[in-house]
Amino acid sequence: MARLIDGKAVALRIKTQAAAEVEKLRQRGIIPGLAVIIVGDDPASRVYVNNKKKDCAEVGIYSEEHALPADTDLNRLLALVESLNNRDDISGILCQLPLPKGLAADEVISAIAPNKDVDAFHPSNVGKIMLGDYQFLPCTPAGVMELLKESGTEIAGKDCVVIGRSNIVGKPMAMLLMQADGTVTICHSKTKSLAEVTRRADILIAAIGRAKFITADMIKPGATVIDVGMNRLDGKLCGDVDFEAAEKVAGAITPVPGGVGPMTRAMLMQNTVTAAKIQSGILK
Ligand code: GUN
Repeated sequence: MARLIDGKAVALRIKTQAAAEVEKLRQRGIIPGLAVIIVGDDPASRVYVNNKKKDCAEVGIYSEEHALPADTDLNRLLALVESLNNRDDISGILCQLPLPKGLAADEVISAIAPNKDVDAFHPSNVGKIMLGDYQFLPCTPAGVMELLKESGTEIAGKDCVVIGRSNIVGKPMAMLLMQADGTVTICHSKTKSLAEVTRRADILIAAIGRAKFITADMIKPGATVIDVGMNRLDGKLCGDVDFEAAEKVAGAITPVPGGVGPMTRAMLMQNTVTAAKIQSGILK
């Protein structure tokens, strides 16, 4: 039976550390602040944004929400980002994705000041990650790296398979595993003989977006399996991995919920603290 990797516990530790950092900053008169932009009324986005505000309150970070209607035009959104870029009390800016159809996410992301880009989605931050010299990491891949560390999974020399090639998860995830000396394969919807590839993985990262897509026969016995999926199945939150079957084969595995999700949220708190330090000159 696989060891369970407890994302909730690791996230709590990271949030506790972030809260201690926030307290130290407060003593120097610095209050980290996060601005969250949400456009439209996507129910999943609403839940994520509410959770982020709750995390901020717990950690001692000031937060404010900018909720805009779905028919907001791009110029209004860009003007909002610009005003947040110019505010000293805002350390981090996050625009919840996806945006409603017709709004170009890349234009909005590019408008965020790179040193306030707590998602690490700005092209300049993406480039820095590629070069291995960065201030911010995107929250989900950064959280996965913490979980691998926590589970005692060695990465160097190991076969790592990432399923999914999104800018938010798959691509940066592959880059981080490669920088940790893993041998990385990226799979996606056009990959042939997917199960053959996944069965070679010592570390399998599932970021597909399809409930229970990864079955037990796709997993190498003893592998570490990280489930990034957040799907709804019969009204219940469910990962990309068929957990009940997979835990009989894997060596270590993350649950959904309680695995990667809480880590993404915790890493956002850490990034916001980092942003506050950069802007106050404590970090270069
Ligand atoms: N939508 C899904 N995941 C994310 C994330 O990490 N950041 C933002 N801004 N939007 C998302």
